[in-house]
Amino acid sequence: MTARPAVAVASLDKAYAARGGRIQALRDVSFDVGHGEFVSVVGPSGCGKSTILKILAGIVRKSGGAIAVDGEPLAGPSDKIGIVFQSPVLLPWRTVYENVVLPVEVRRQPLAPARERALGLIRLVGLEGFETRYPAELSGGMQQRVAICRALVTDPAILLMDEPFGALDAMTREHMNLELQRIWMESRKTVFLITHSIQEAVFLSDRVIVMTSRPGRIDEIVPIDLPRPRSFDLLTDARFGAYARHIRAKFGSQAMFA
Ligand SMILES: Nc1ncnc2c1ncn2[C@@H]1O[C@H](COP(=O)(O)OP(=O)(O)OP(=O)(O)O)[C@@H](O)[C@H]1O
Ligand SMILES: [Mg+2]
Repeated sequence: MTARPAVAVASLDKAYAARGGRIQALRDVSFDVGHGEFVSVVGPSGCGKSTILKILAGIVRKSGGAIAVDGEPLAGPSDKIGIVFQSPVLLPWRTVYENVVLPVEVRRQPLAPARERALGLIRLVGLEGFETRYPAELSGGMQQRVAICRALVTDPAILLMDEPFGALDAMTREHMNLELQRIWMESRKTVFLITHSIQEAVFLSDRVIVMTSRPGRIDEIVPIDLPRPRSFDLLTDARFGAYARHIRAKFGSQAMFA
């Protein structure tokens, strides 16, 4: 018997009702994410990447197909899943620390043990000293780092991330890539990462899902067979370059960037 995957998506379809007709965002999308696996998704802007994540988050309804988390059909938001959205959506009237512990409060879990974890995460992402600041006092990249802490504070088994590093400068982004790899290797979480960066996807992933333009379908799922832990020396490795070129070639002249 094969183990149940952490996330199983089968024949997923999504059409949005929009002015002037329906928008077919996803068509017949099927993939699994294994327990402890790191899977990324790349694809042109508007191909339905965020739509997949919002459906997995239980906040957008699918039009067809089936989704199971740990073998159970997904029905709304799951406690097993932590999410970082494409924009950080912090509560402006709460401080950094109060935003990070929000999921603990929502789940009515005890705050005392979460406090240590929250402060550790804030330190990890380089926001020590900003615990009592408000979102409006932070840059976009800093706000996104708060959102990453918030997704991790309840220690979810599955982490869904939509362009979490898009607003960061290149240096911070590289640092966060290494940190994410470390967190993932230490905690053996299941990670599902959406990114515009082919490099980031190849660097971090066990497998990269490549999508077509709208309606989004899966073009190819590319296993990345490179040793771990990976360091930035890998960026100049011929095998790394071959994976990145292979994926890049899928897009031809299609724009990857919004
Ligand atoms: N609430 C909505 N109502 C109608 N159409 C929508 C809605 N949300 C998304 N869409 C459409 O569905 C398609 C997929 O959108 P989605 O945000 O999933 O793309 P994406 O791959 O995440 O793009 P990007 O890389 O730019 O973030 C787009 O054509 C978009 O216009
Ligand atoms: Mg998106």
